[in-house]
Amino acid sequence: MSTALPLSHRRIVLGITGGIAAYKGAELVRQFVKAGAEVQVVLTRAAEHFVTKLTLQTLSGRPVLVEIFDLDEESRIGHIQIADRAELLVIAPATANVIARLAHGFAGDLLTTVALATLAPLVLAPAMNVNMWRHPQTQENVARLVARGAILVGPDSGDLACGWVGAGRLVEPAEIVAACVRALSSIKLTPRDLEGQSIVVTAGPTREAIDPVRFLGNRSSGKMGFAIARRAAARGANVTLIAGPVTLDTPSGVMRVDVETAAEMHEAVMAREADSACVIKAAAVGDFRAASIMSDKIKKTASDRVTLDLVKNPDILAALVDRRRARGGRRPVIVGFAAETGDLEDKARAKLAKKGCDLLVANDVAEAGSTFGSDTNQVLLLAPDQPTESLPLLTKDELADRILDRVKSLLG
Ligand code: PMT
Repeated sequence: MSTALPLSHRRIVLGITGGIAAYKGAELVRQFVKAGAEVQVVLTRAAEHFVTKLTLQTLSGRPVLVEIFDLDEESRIGHIQIADRAELLVIAPATANVIARLAHGFAGDLLTTVALATLAPLVLAPAMNVNMWRHPQTQENVARLVARGAILVGPDSGDLACGWVGAGRLVEPAEIVAACVRALSSIKLTPRDLEGQSIVVTAGPTREAIDPVRFLGNRSSGKMGFAIARRAAARGANVTLIAGPVTLDTPSGVMRVDVETAAEMHEAVMAREADSACVIKAAAVGDFRAASIMSDKIKKTASDRVTLDLVKNPDILAALVDRRRARGGRRPVIVGFAAETGDLEDKARAKLAKKGCDLLVANDVAEAGSTFGSDTNQVLLLAPDQPTESLPLLTKDELADRILDRVKSLLG
């Protein structure tokens, strides 16, 4: 009786970087191959001091790559092709240096270029001296990568090659393989059902200056829009994320355009709508801006009152619907949001009729679990001439998938 191997035909790119633990890379390749994986090894220049290409090539059964512009290898396997084919990028051992370069987006060698270009999840198994591991800069870099979705395996504690005792030892190869099996079994569930679709997502608040130090804004954190962008990219879409001022990291594989004001967001959206299959407007756009921005800071006056003269901002959602109507046709599919407090369904039906979009995602931002900045949301989905769909409380990533399921059926 034959049992399926846990990583049968899974395409893993294994990056080995230059630390003493690099020698364990050979055993890791052996275990990946034994588990059924196709392993493409990418070595850094520093790793070549610790482990030979010949060993890794023999164990993996394919050429080991080092240089970004190795003409011989490039003619057969381009670095973008490696990035595109990867189902998982594993870096083991990951030195403090490579972690820092990944956290800041450097692409000075083949491994970091592949890491920037791939949409595959990243598994990091750090190995370094305990003080380097504990250094606040390393911890900040690791936290940044984890926040972007990297899976951290280890490090272990114990005797280190440098003579110190503490955290910084590479975990055993079997543990890295087990983490990869878990990671791949969860991503297997993500269909690439939006492959090739261009989707524009807006996220976050807008800010309207009043004077050089003050602005009108709102409490949107951007989490909802970023979750939609992240899930759409994971499902294969070409995503442009137009983000107001937020402190979130860009999801992998997403093209980000930063804006501040409603007018800038309007311009960024309208410049892209005609080439998009869908526009999703999760941003909380300021409805008003100061009629004129003071060039100097407004001073406290003798009076207790200051009057602000406000003018309306462009309604981007309405402009999108108008532009599509003028052009004729059904693209892009337009998804709006409605942030309400109380009487959600009635207010949302009225907003859907007024805005004329294809789908409206309505949330009551006064409800616990659906407030600005929360990691969850509970919404109603409304479409013209269809019954309202009421969704349970979901994480923003889960909700993003439910919205994208509706987008997929609207795209036909
Ligand atoms: O960012 P989070 O902290 O995760 O919070 C998520 C959220 C609450 C911001 C999000 O779920 C949400 O409800 N976004 C829309 C907020 C909003 O502006 O709602 P609205 O009812 O005021 O606007 C209706 C729609 O018109 C929205 O799609 C909005 O993007 C759009 N609009 C509004 C004003 C304007 N000038 N132009 C627009 O396009």
